[in-house]
Amino acid sequence: MKPIPIHRSDSQANTPAAGMYPAVRMRRNRKADWTRRLVAETRLTTSDLIWPIFLIDGPQRRVPVEHMPGVDRVNIEQAVADAERAVALNIPAIAPFPYVQKDLRDPTGSEAERSTNLMCRAVDAIKRAVPHLGVITDVALDPYTSHGHDGVLDGNGVILNDETIAILRRQALSLAQAGVDCVAPSDMMDGRVGAIRRALDTAGYDDVQILSYAAKYASGFYGPFRDAIGTNATLIGDKRTYQMDPANSDEALREVALDIAEGADMVMVKPGMPYLDIVRRVKDTFGMPTFAYQVSGEYAMLQAAAQNRWLDGDRVMMESLMAFKRAGADGVLTYFAPAAAKLLNAA
Ligand code: PBG
Repeated sequence: MKPIPIHRSDSQANTPAAGMYPAVRMRRNRKADWTRRLVAETRLTTSDLIWPIFLIDGPQRRVPVEHMPGVDRVNIEQAVADAERAVALNIPAIAPFPYVQKDLRDPTGSEAERSTNLMCRAVDAIKRAVPHLGVITDVALDPYTSHGHDGVLDGNGVILNDETIAILRRQALSLAQAGVDCVAPSDMMDGRVGAIRRALDTAGYDDVQILSYAAKYASGFYGPFRDAIGTNATLIGDKRTYQMDPANSDEALREVALDIAEGADMVMVKPGMPYLDIVRRVKDTFGMPTFAYQVSGEYAMLQAAAQNRWLDGDRVMMESLMAFKRAGADGVLTYFAPAAAKLLNAA
């Protein structure tokens, strides 16, 4: 870090005796709202938000997610309504995630490939109703596997990289066929971005973007999400053989570099707030469109404290989102998206 220069003509000028101490008063620029607005370095707008939503199949419209107050699983009809709400709130994109019925899950996640699965039907319905809203979907097997892992396993429980990628390519193609705008590989298999890019291009979907979960950590902050899509109960072991070690930062840069080389259009760091240093390094190093995922556990923490009135919920919500922008993120995937957009639109 460079030293901050302090300009003064001579050292005496800055003494109380000279009547002008201190020459530099940082508070002058903060004295009123108008000047604080002028000197603000970072802006948060509704255009910075991506709204993750949870899908369920069936007639029931909304089922609350227990550990994420304010978040529901929604059926396709309600998902379309939420998509319309996103447009009304000026949110550029949504990211649906499925709760897959237990009897549709199997060891290889074969439901993921089916063009009639919940996700594909939802994407189709949303794109028909609100064609200009961006729809971004995960490419990963965990909602679909009976063991809750993002990949397929061998007889010893080892995740098989290349066998998994073969399935992910077909999953990505089904989503592209359903009309998705952008796929987001979140599985952390090696080489999947390149493989998915080639599969999409070969099938004529060269317009479908890839937002890669490039630096995704093996995190305890995903707990409420796994409850929401029903994978916590079934997950055997943990995801440390494919998701990153929270101790590592240089490794994140290598992951991002590989995904860019393989054709990622945008990259993501996940979780968000505990990894703002990674966001900053990635943005500074690559200058790529860089997103952060404020994950379910981060949302749960803030909401729990707000519900107890231990924190001012709106205030910490906006402060946390601003922190992502200040760290260099171009946007944030956040369950707060509709609430934050409402406040931003009212301002
Ligand atoms: C699945 C996936 C996860 C999240 C997004 N995609 C969970 C995981 O990797 O176990 C977590 C999102 C959140 O916690 O909000 N590949």
